[in-house]
Amino acid sequence: MADPKRAEFADLLREDRSFSPPPEFTARAVVRDDRIYAEADRDPEAFWARFAGELEWSRRWDTVLDWQPPHAKWFVGGKINASVNCLDRHVRGPRRNKAALIWEGEPGDRRTLTYFDLFRQVSAFANVLTSLGVRKGDRVAIYLPLIPELAISMLACARIGAVHSVVFGGFSAESLRDRINDSQCRVLITADGGFRRGQIVALKQVADEALADTPSIENVVVVQRGHAEMPVHIKEGRDHWYHRLMQDASYKCDPEPMDAEDMLYILYTSGTTGKPKGIVHTTAGYLVGTYATTKLVFDLREDDVYWCTADIGWVTGHSYVVYGPLANGATVVMYEGAPDWPKKDRFWSLIETYGVTVFYTAPTAIRAFMKWGTEWPKKRDLSSLRLLGSVGEPINPEAWVWYYHFIGGDRCPVVDTWWQTETGAIMITPLPGVTTLKPGSATRPFPGIAAEIRNERGEKVDVGGGLLALTRPWPSMLRGIYGDPERYVRQYWNKWGSGVYVTGDGAKRDADGCFWLLGRVDDVINVAGHRIGTMEVESALVDHPGVAEAAVVGRAHEIKGQAIAAFVTVKEGTHATKDLADVLKEHVVKKIGAIARPDDILFTADLPKTRSGKIMRRLLRDIAEGKALGDTTTLADPAVVAKLKANYEEEYG
Ligand code: PRX
Repeated sequence: MADPKRAEFADLLREDRSFSPPPEFTARAVVRDDRIYAEADRDPEAFWARFAGELEWSRRWDTVLDWQPPHAKWFVGGKINASVNCLDRHVRGPRRNKAALIWEGEPGDRRTLTYFDLFRQVSAFANVLTSLGVRKGDRVAIYLPLIPELAISMLACARIGAVHSVVFGGFSAESLRDRINDSQCRVLITADGGFRRGQIVALKQVADEALADTPSIENVVVVQRGHAEMPVHIKEGRDHWYHRLMQDASYKCDPEPMDAEDMLYILYTSGTTGKPKGIVHTTAGYLVGTYATTKLVFDLREDDVYWCTADIGWVTGHSYVVYGPLANGATVVMYEGAPDWPKKDRFWSLIETYGVTVFYTAPTAIRAFMKWGTEWPKKRDLSSLRLLGSVGEPINPEAWVWYYHFIGGDRCPVVDTWWQTETGAIMITPLPGVTTLKPGSATRPFPGIAAEIRNERGEKVDVGGGLLALTRPWPSMLRGIYGDPERYVRQYWNKWGSGVYVTGDGAKRDADGCFWLLGRVDDVINVAGHRIGTMEVESALVDHPGVAEAAVVGRAHEIKGQAIAAFVTVKEGTHATKDLADVLKEHVVKKIGAIARPDDILFTADLPKTRSGKIMRRLLRDIAEGKALGDTTTLADPAVVAKLKANYEEEYG
């Protein structure tokens, strides 16, 4: 384990005000008093079953939980379909013509889909998938920009029982290929392209590169954004235009009654090895978890306009753009592009235009807004907002207070929500009508969730720092890693006995029982809210013929939270030049995607290693952060580190 970062924690505590919920907020809130915590603790299964009972089942469950640590089955015997709960249920009632999705493309194009529109399109596309031979249990890869067809594709898969695997549109051809091959997807859904900061992202071209080596793919569906500059090659027999297939598709499609534990989706995320893991979520528990948390944490009311800015390619988009809000019948805003395009007030202009009431974004965005200056939000009317959320990385108190004041007008509670791809739904969070907020703290576990701080030996720490663990199963928990059951056990459940889930995060619990998240303690880094494995970047670097060895660490970064610093040794005969550094950065982009581009590359003749040959990443992080070096006595050659530090300071100091 790396050291829990105490210095950073001291920083976190600089802002020591706390904020009680405004009485007028509490008066109308979904949860108005904190008895819900005791109630959920007394009988967690009954608590979750209460929310399950608000959903529509084609067969009710027999048993809420079957827990054979570390394997859980929730709502055993139940039959349920996620698309029915996100669509049919609303279409039959007064929400039929309510806006489900309000979408805006980066160039300014707009589409609004009512629940009935979305229901028809999902059903029609579900029929299209069936006509392409997709059957229950088949995997379907989705590689799309943030357009309505992304949500439509996911729900269409859910309707017929196909398992979707969404790959973020910023990932490279190789990343897409590996994800398709790992789970043997039969169909790929992509688009000619999308827009990002005024640039065209030619997705189909990238997909074509991946498709050269994905033997399991039989059919490719291509959504047309219809821009002349998006070059598209259509391979006869394999590739089909989405709009052509949809032309004659019937919108009558009987939903597949899914077993509660049938797989709903796979989503790849980075871990401590070079290979991303396919996190598996199943149907009923995931739906119950996202439904309940969306309702309580975002305090949803019928007339809310809810906007979560995450891309659907990440878990936040799965749970809090698609499944959670749609299961609640909310109006969801979706925006395709960048927050600073064409100007730095794009987000605020969207909030003003659509009257957004609940807004959920990431600290990295908030820190960028702070840097851009308050004149941008001040130009817009943000008075529709009533609740703000934060997710993806620790939020520093300064950013929290800025968000609260300049965006929320000192009137909107800020819910700092901690969770992971693996947890499926929010785990630690305030409930906005009852929780006293402390800037920088995600406060308390959601009702029914049991979180603890433990020391290395596994002993519970009541007040103080250590490792964050979840000690009771929860409905939306991951059910495994696709194709690697053994890794599931080893990675998450083996540290202190098989009933305790190890999060990989360091955290501290204060005397009031509030949790303060301190970041990852494993070889995973969090760059601008994106989770990246240091080993993945290292493998990409050593894949270059000139590189002998590479070590990658995250260093603190003012806006992105962490930046990627790579220490590289080159092979004999290769010259360690600035040009090579640029080539290596591009090489990583090509292998993984732009999110993994190293910020710093430092060439070095040696890497600091222990006598047993292990690279000492902790020291490298200290070097990259310009800190005084800690204990180097276990090093094989302490001189290596001193030299490295001097070089780094010369280059980046
Ligand atoms: O380190 C934690 C950080 O993001 C990790 C999970 O990343 P991912 O699976 O990509 O999911 C991101 C969106 C849920 C966690 O292990 N993290 C997430 N939310 C917070 C956070 N760290 C501190 N505070 C948060 N609110």
